[in-house]
Amino acid sequence: MAETNLIRTTIGGVPVVELAQEFGTPLYVYDAAVIRKRFAELAVFDVVRYAQKACSNLAILALVRQLGALVDAVSAGEIHRALAAGYPPAGDPPPIMYTADIFDRDALDLVVEHHIHVNCGSRDMIEQLGERVPGREITLRVNPGFGHGHSRKTNTGGELSKHGIWHEQLHEALFEAEHHGLSVVGLHMHIGSGSDFEHLAQVCRAMEKAAVEAGRNLRWISAGGGLPIPYREGDARIDIQRYFDLWDATRKRLEDRFGHRVRLEVEPGRYIVAEAGFLITEIRAVKEQAQNTFYLVDAGFNNLVRPAMYGAYHPLRLAPRDPSLPRLFQEVIVGGPLCESGDIFTQEEGGIVTKRLLPQAAVGDYIVIECAGAYGFVMGSNYNSKPYPPEVLVDNGDVKLIRRRQTYTDLFEDEMIPSEFLADED
Ligand code: LLP
Repeated sequence: MAETNLIRTTIGGVPVVELAQEFGTPLYVYDAAVIRKRFAELAVFDVVRYAQKACSNLAILALVRQLGALVDAVSAGEIHRALAAGYPPAGDPPPIMYTADIFDRDALDLVVEHHIHVNCGSRDMIEQLGERVPGREITLRVNPGFGHGHSRKTNTGGELSKHGIWHEQLHEALFEAEHHGLSVVGLHMHIGSGSDFEHLAQVCRAMEKAAVEAGRNLRWISAGGGLPIPYREGDARIDIQRYFDLWDATRKRLEDRFGHRVRLEVEPGRYIVAEAGFLITEIRAVKEQAQNTFYLVDAGFNNLVRPAMYGAYHPLRLAPRDPSLPRLFQEVIVGGPLCESGDIFTQEEGGIVTKRLLPQAAVGDYIVIECAGAYGFVMGSNYNSKPYPPEVLVDNGDVKLIRRRQTYTDLFEDEMIPSEFLADED
């Protein structure tokens, strides 16, 4: 993916400068070829269930659906998105799975009405669903007692995590389900996002133990998501075949014990879309102060919050307006337009500002923030009254707008001014 000299001139074969000039900046661009490639690597699993929280644009959902992915939903909104992208509500395997630790009232109504399969992360969910629709099949999300993510904020297992049914309480949860006439046909574990191979492998053992306890009604097990991607140059890519082999061996032992087939699911978000996404932003000021050079760009943490929130590293490249100019390199700090000191793309966890080697640049050149497809646009906000940027999909040289830029009136169309504040003053 990386081009040499920290310069990137094209995305999916389309010039960055053309994209920026046609759609304006900031701009999210996704390369469909990368999504197809990453999905194909995972297709060894029986079911690839896309965790849409990573990037839930309808066009991306429709693309992964066409590839054969099923989908996870964590809210009523994500269920509505899945339906709008063409997923049928119910089937075997369930096309849409609602995975959460609570039902808000909208979500409970929706899963009841549309027969959406539920992955319960708390005993209260079991009870609330069982009271409404006894007789349903459910999955249980188990917290195996440990977790691991790329940051403490993305660790979703262990005793301080709010996620899943505590492994030592699985027995009570199974009893609760039976009591409410629900049959537990699936088990699921997700220990964190951006985890590493060793922790992901540990989940197999925990799953086997839990599955033996849950018994022979189980028809599937889900390894969850959390697969890491190589954000930094030189990071190794996870060995998917090796990961699958571990799970496959676990599945086979369970099949021997139960005497029937056990489906194997995986539920990644990041692995499918992170590397496909690019945030193009224009340099609007270059500041020199003391020993430091700042490139100030028109995207901020309202567009990509991961550096500010987790100290996450994203590769940065220059897309020069005039690529023919020879360039020297310098260490720079890259920041956005927001009125917040933390609006810096080059920082480590804890808010420590770092510098990055980039080619010398001027106002009007572009910075491409790479690996921005997962937890990029979806975690954006309108902070400082900045409209959401457009999203574009590049597919085989074709450029398709998949979300228009928000307008300034969109920003406040849901707000009301009480009439007494509108009355003219005497
Ligand atoms: N399944 C469940 C139940 C999850 O909670 C998550 C992520 C996934 C699957 C997908 O995980 P992935 O394969 O994408 O790692 N905002 C953070 C990530 C939070 C992920 C939350 N759950 C970030 O920007 O790194």
